[in-house]
Amino acid sequence: MDLTLTINGERRSLTVDDPRVTLLDALRQHLDLTGTKKGCDHGQCGACTVMLNGRRINSCLTLAVMHEGDEITTIEGIGRPGGLSPMQDAFVRHDGFQCGYCTPGQIVSATAMLEEARQGWPSYVSDDLERGGDLSDEEIRERMSGNLCRCSCYPNIVDAIRDTAEAAA
Ligand code: FES
Ligand code: FES
Repeated sequence: MDLTLTINGERRSLTVDDPRVTLLDALRQHLDLTGTKKGCDHGQCGACTVMLNGRRINSCLTLAVMHEGDEITTIEGIGRPGGLSPMQDAFVRHDGFQCGYCTPGQIVSATAMLEEARQGWPSYVSDDLERGGDLSDEEIRERMSGNLCRCSCYPNIVDAIRDTAEAAA
């Protein structure tokens, strides 16, 4: 089965033999984009987070064949050594990672989450469902609750996200 996806701004073609290949496996094994990590493979850890047409998703929970023509952004499209995005830079400055396994997913998720908040999307803890909430630490924690870090770097991750949000305001 032949597929064409736009990944990090580039059209990429691939052939999958089995329609059950997940988007995560297509990225890592067919396209050598190994920045996106496989943690649980069950939608529980967030390590595999990518953006699909600008919105974050767990790439282990969706099939590659469902995304013909879609735009996917992986961590490689967010920034690179020597050209880090503001969120990546803030993670470095705040020491928001230790082993780094969850970090690509955290950074993709945090980047998309800031845009969701900017557009007024509410979270479970937002007081105002029409407008969303201010990006308090409680809001950041709730909006990032799908991304687990077994090293428990959460305080530093929240600091990095708050710093990036404030710098963009
Ligand atoms: S690998 Fe997808 S959520 Fe854990
Ligand atoms: S830094 Fe996140 S799992 Fe270790």
